[in-house]
Amino acid sequence: MYRIFVTRSLPGNALDKIKDRCNVTVYPLDRTITKDELMTYLKEADAVISMLSDPIDKEVIEAGKNLKVIANYAVGYNNIDIEAATKSGIAVVNTPDVLTEASADLAWALLLAVSRRVVEGDTMTRAGKFRGWAPELLLGVPVYGQTLGIIGAGRIGQAVARRAKGFGMRVLYHNRKRLPKAIENDLGMSYAALDDLLAESDFVSLHCPLTPETKHLIGPRELGLMKQTAVLINTARGPVVDEEALLQALRKKTIFGAGLDVYEKEPLLTPGLADLPNVVLTPHIGSADTRTRLAMVDMVLNDIIAVLNNERPQNLVNPEVWGRR
Ligand code: GLV
Ligand code: GLV
Repeated sequence: MYRIFVTRSLPGNALDKIKDRCNVTVYPLDRTITKDELMTYLKEADAVISMLSDPIDKEVIEAGKNLKVIANYAVGYNNIDIEAATKSGIAVVNTPDVLTEASADLAWALLLAVSRRVVEGDTMTRAGKFRGWAPELLLGVPVYGQTLGIIGAGRIGQAVARRAKGFGMRVLYHNRKRLPKAIENDLGMSYAALDDLLAESDFVSLHCPLTPETKHLIGPRELGLMKQTAVLINTARGPVVDEEALLQALRKKTIFGAGLDVYEKEPLLTPGLADLPNVVLTPHIGSADTRTRLAMVDMVLNDIIAVLNNERPQNLVNPEVWGRR
């Protein structure tokens, strides 16, 4: 029987359904597994379901002598050394598509929460400090009819753009590759150079993967190009933003606010960030709705079973590995 190791307990009971065919071990503790523990568990495993918070580096990969597939329970896979996996002949799969709409929903939740000061309002109301309606109470920045700038126009970026139609927004996007005209027209969005997008947008939302090229894509210079009334949303990966530079911009109010679901040194925050009222902070919950998280389990299991049956998986991140089998 093939052995599958899962680094964290997953929602639903899909794992039970394959227990007659596979030997499934789930890491028993409710915390991120340590590297040493992971290397020990992987010695015997044919497949692993990993979390985005598990760094799967060369050493970990080499510890998995029987490993045939790494299934990342996420769309992003910057936590995995893909080159090392490919060299070892290990397929890497992820969970695109099923989490697109949930992730776009969360980007919008943050956008609305920051611009209309929802969390400040909640804190104030709970504290008994709401002393009656007032003309200048918690004035925010307008959303309807404003300009939204999307950096990274893949599936999630496009889903965020689609929602902007209902808010009557003008949508700009920046992407490594310009999208086909038909998609631009359908989504009502226009391509812009990065600096133009930053200068013209009222909301800047990040949807690019973390790569060497996108690390600190948003630093002091880029924040300096943004409007004083602008809001930055990051639901992509923390290191895309220079968090210290963002802290300074929020402190000095050179931008209106930020909504963050991801952090540069996750789960740690840059000291001082949590003291600021003009930032809304969520704990990396972009894909966290019940339907999505269950669909992600089915997706990783289907692809693991495919690889173990020597069939090409649906969401292969390193297709080079397949030709060599
Ligand atoms: C979440 O951040 C993911 O990559 O799925
Ligand atoms: C992720 O799936 C993206 O392409 O945005």
